[in-house]
Amino acid sequence: MRDTIRNQLDQDGYVVLEDFLRPAECDELLAAGVELAMQAHENDQKCVFSTTGKQQLQDKYFIESNDKISYFFEADAFGPDGALQVDPSVSLNKVGHALHLLHPIFRCYTYSDRVKAVCRELGFKEPSVVQSMYIYKNPGVGGEVVAHQDATYLYTEPLPPVGFWIPLEDATIQNGCLWMLRGSHKSGVHRRLIRNPDKDKESKQALIYDTPSPIYPSSSFTPIPVSRGTLVLIHGNVVHKSAPNKSEKSRHAYTFHVIEKKDNAYSPDNWLQEGENAPFLDLYTTPQMI
Ligand code: FE2
Repeated sequence: MRDTIRNQLDQDGYVVLEDFLRPAECDELLAAGVELAMQAHENDQKCVFSTTGKQQLQDKYFIESNDKISYFFEADAFGPDGALQVDPSVSLNKVGHALHLLHPIFRCYTYSDRVKAVCRELGFKEPSVVQSMYIYKNPGVGGEVVAHQDATYLYTEPLPPVGFWIPLEDATIQNGCLWMLRGSHKSGVHRRLIRNPDKDKESKQALIYDTPSPIYPSSSFTPIPVSRGTLVLIHGNVVHKSAPNKSEKSRHAYTFHVIEKKDNAYSPDNWLQEGENAPFLDLYTTPQMI
């Protein structure tokens, strides 16, 4: 059997494709990400994103970011008094979740012929990009992303989503590269984040997990250090994580998720829903230009 990226994704749960973007292309996306960080401070609302706490679950801001370019700050960027204690340029955790629709540069790369070719290789019939994020992982404050499956957040069946993850700077063990639990995508979806069916107004959490977080042995994870411009394809069911960035180098990355729309159900319980301003467009026919 030919060793296709589809076979490799089926076998390992991830695929590493080096030199997917050229250095100048990484630089263009990096500059756009840095510009977003500077614009973030013109925005009054400061929402902290953390995968270790529950703060984002209680925040409407997160759910309503499906059709916006919204800013999420690092928890460690603020002191106990709420004042920013790092330089504004390194205070963001991420920006999301509609860069692929609303931002001319991110849109251009998301709907590129190269991305379409990868989707065809993977066998997508009606692929659709449903969310996008610029992730900063800034030096010192860049937080941990705990072990998880992307299908916990974006549940589709029978086919899970595929994550496209592209570091724009070299991703190393020191600055928080991905770590994969190879083969774990064959063990089903371990838990889900769902919209809280409890309509009780006393209930503050709009989103809840259906089960506690599983414990994964840290010795089972493989680090995936890659140079910038590499595309890492992430099977929706593979368990992965990244460590906090304790180094002095940032690790910016652009990432988006593709679902299959043909004969595949998108869960109405997912936090992210298709909206008038955030349609799940057909990737093969969506123009790169806004
Ligand atoms: Fe993930």
